Amino acid sequence: MSETTEQKPRKKLVAGNWKMNGSFDSNEALILGFLAEVDDQVDVSVFCPFPYLTQVAKLLEDQGVAYGAQDVSAKASGAYTGEVSVSMLNEFGVTQVLVGHSERRQYHAESSVAVAEKAVVAMAGGITPIVCVGETLAERQAGLVEAVIASQLDPVIERCSKFVGNGAWNLVIAYEPVWAIGTGVTASPEQAQEVHAMIRARLNAMLGSEVAQSTRILYGGSVKPGNASEIFAKVDIDGGLIGGAALSSDEFSGIIRAARG
Ligand code: PGA
Repeated sequence: MSETTEQKPRKKLVAGNWKMNGSFDSNEALILGFLAEVDDQVDVSVFCPFPYLTQVAKLLEDQGVAYGAQDVSAKASGAYTGEVSVSMLNEFGVTQVLVGHSERRQYHAESSVAVAEKAVVAMAGGITPIVCVGETLAERQAGLVEAVIASQLDPVIERCSKFVGNGAWNLVIAYEPVWAIGTGVTASPEQAQEVHAMIRARLNAMLGSEVAQSTRILYGGSVKPGNASEIFAKVDIDGGLIGGAALSSDEFSGIIRAARG
């Protein structure tokens, strides 16, 4: 697959997914530890557990760092025990939300259609969905990478396409091969670039080149300060979704520095 040759108009985004980690004390130390690294050359965001949104919002006030949730309901309100709606996230000043992380797909049986429904309500509510896609090792070994990514992505693109052209399109895609998440095994920069180029080609075919060229595609899966630079140097890789290394202010800082280039 050939690399995209157009000049990159996209600003890098480094997003920290804290997963089910944190406490008032550790959250504060973590945020205060990486803030010095933040400037306007790289977008930075953090995704904390729901109960910490107020604390994180306060710590990040006027700091130029976005914050968000790790999931959102596709429903507006009602008898959905345990769920959190877009309008609730709006009240906390949330501007981005993770949708369809592989841990949600795996442990909560979220289908690609359910993920797409979450993405569309987020976008409708002015919150940028970061939609996670990625194949398992067995799927990669069976030669199914393109088919799996397409099956995860197409329902999102189909439902969200109505926002293209009215200024509300704000999708971010995160390519996270399941076999690289939390394993210490990273996709090689070439492997990641190949899938990113395929995702961008799919956006191009379905929504046109303007959308394809402006949509950020992050890589996630064992990104560390030591491997971030060569991954972020690839033409279709617009930053990273960081798990384990986002829990250390030193490591997260190192990844922000790598994104600055
Ligand atoms: P990892 O997680 O960086 O620990 O591999 C990435 C993710 O799950 O988003």
